Amino acid sequence: MNHQLLKIESTDQKPESYLREIGSLFAVFDEHSQDSGNISYGVQVDRRRFFVKTAGDPSDLRSFLSHKERVSLLHNAVRLRRSCAHCALPQLHNVIESLHGPMLVYDWIEGELLRADSATRQQPQSALQRFRRLPVPEILSALHHVFELHLELAQAGWIAVDFYDGCLIYDFAIRKMQVIDLDMYREGPFVNGMGRMFGSSRYMAPEEFERGAIIDEKTTVFTMGRTVANLLSDGSLARSAFRGGDGHYSILRRACCASRDQRFASISEFFSAWQEAGKGALSG
Ligand SMILES: Nc1ncnc2c1ncn2[C@@H]1O[C@H](COP(=O)(O)OP(=O)(O)O)[C@@H](O)[C@H]1O
Ligand SMILES: [Mg+2]
Repeated sequence: MNHQLLKIESTDQKPESYLREIGSLFAVFDEHSQDSGNISYGVQVDRRRFFVKTAGDPSDLRSFLSHKERVSLLHNAVRLRRSCAHCALPQLHNVIESLHGPMLVYDWIEGELLRADSATRQQPQSALQRFRRLPVPEILSALHHVFELHLELAQAGWIAVDFYDGCLIYDFAIRKMQVIDLDMYREGPFVNGMGRMFGSSRYMAPEEFERGAIIDEKTTVFTMGRTVANLLSDGSLARSAFRGGDGHYSILRRACCASRDQRFASISEFFSAWQEAGKGALSG
């Protein structure tokens, strides 16, 4: 496709007017579904679908983050995407400067967001609960994809922030997991300057609640452990709820230790142990 959406560098229009002019909008993610202040669009051009993310309206002051901060997170997302080629991340085709700041033109991902809010999380028909009921090998394969991505990100220096099931889109038909919205990831270890950081407490390490604490790869290890607990179990660390084998269970427990010293030191260590345990499960 040789369309201007993939080519132009800037427009003096607002994102929505521009997108309505060049294609057809089939989805809008605004304050009705998001609390980020960002506004994103599903747009179809010719027969191809894109997800276009923007920092929203600069004059809207309701969000926790200012427009300037939101723009800076979008630039961060661009840096992250360009530093990592893993196929779990949607393609980023273009960044267009608009009257309301950058528009990030990603591929549209088919599938269902695994996020469920506290009201719907336990509903059997929610995407998260349906995912949890899939055959174990299918869940293991999706987890493998997420861990492999985080290994590549860790190798590029990225620490996970605000990762949770709202970052996971699963296509149940073709069994494919994709990862979105890593805008808050940080390059290199840093000091928690907020106290409770952004994120879902179901995925967060103790240091993410403690002002002055170091946030580093061990924090990402904890978050990946919580991902296992939420996708291959019922969110708890109970052995009885865990659907995997003993080897994977002990890795889950170690990754989710409150004490940082007892966790795996890196994503690489965590992922190697996970894969090793997987081989054991297959052979015996
Ligand atoms: N590439 C994509 N393809 C299809 N839908 C997407 C894509 N990226 C995000 N979404 C959907 O749009 C919503 C908002 O995107 P997200 O990046 O999470 O923005 P925010 O910064 O507002 O949280 C997500 O919850 C998801 O449902
Ligand atoms: Mg989001």
